[in-house]
Amino acid sequence: MDGVHWVRHPLVQHKLSLLRDRKRASGEFRRLVRELSMLLAYEVTRDLPLTTERIETPLEPFDAPKIEGKKLVLAPILRAGIALAEGMQELIPSARFAHIGLYRDHDTLEAVEYFFKAPKDLPDRLVIVTDPMLATGNSAVAAIDRLRARGARDIRYVCLLAAPEGIRHLREAHPDVPIWTAAIDRGLNEKGYIMPGLGDAGDRIYGTS
Ligand code: URA
Repeated sequence: MDGVHWVRHPLVQHKLSLLRDRKRASGEFRRLVRELSMLLAYEVTRDLPLTTERIETPLEPFDAPKIEGKKLVLAPILRAGIALAEGMQELIPSARFAHIGLYRDHDTLEAVEYFFKAPKDLPDRLVIVTDPMLATGNSAVAAIDRLRARGARDIRYVCLLAAPEGIRHLREAHPDVPIWTAAIDRGLNEKGYIMPGLGDAGDRIYGTS
């Protein structure tokens, strides 16, 4: 699928299977989300441009590769996206955060904004939107609409599980936003849950079900 990076690495697939298991307790669930987010961070940043900086090893001077100036913003869609973004931040400690608060209206399944706080220089940053579940795509599209309205230009989207419906919706609304996902599941059920999925990611992360 054009613009969709399906991360099939065995470690990712194994950890995702552990995560899907309904018997997984929330502490363990959070740990797995954190580990998966680091593995996905590795993939989504794979093409970041490098420059070199002259350093001294204990033996001689060396032109050492370093990531070029472009700054990152991790943009979690609240609340489940936070766990994914925090794991990524462990690998990229200089990344800033843009928190995007959206809730799903239970009747329309449309995304409604209740919070938005982002760094001012969004246009100069690579923005990585995080949400474990790309279901209908309504939240993803709404979050990216709002980032664009504040000037963001270079945007990527990372999730753990995607439904084909959500991928289609996001790709149609924002064809220049590539997607990284660890799985593409069968589809949505009548309540908008991804099947077979892993249930409600936020509830499982925070133990609120
Ligand atoms: N959000 C979730 O947490 N789970 C789903 O299956 C769909 C949306």
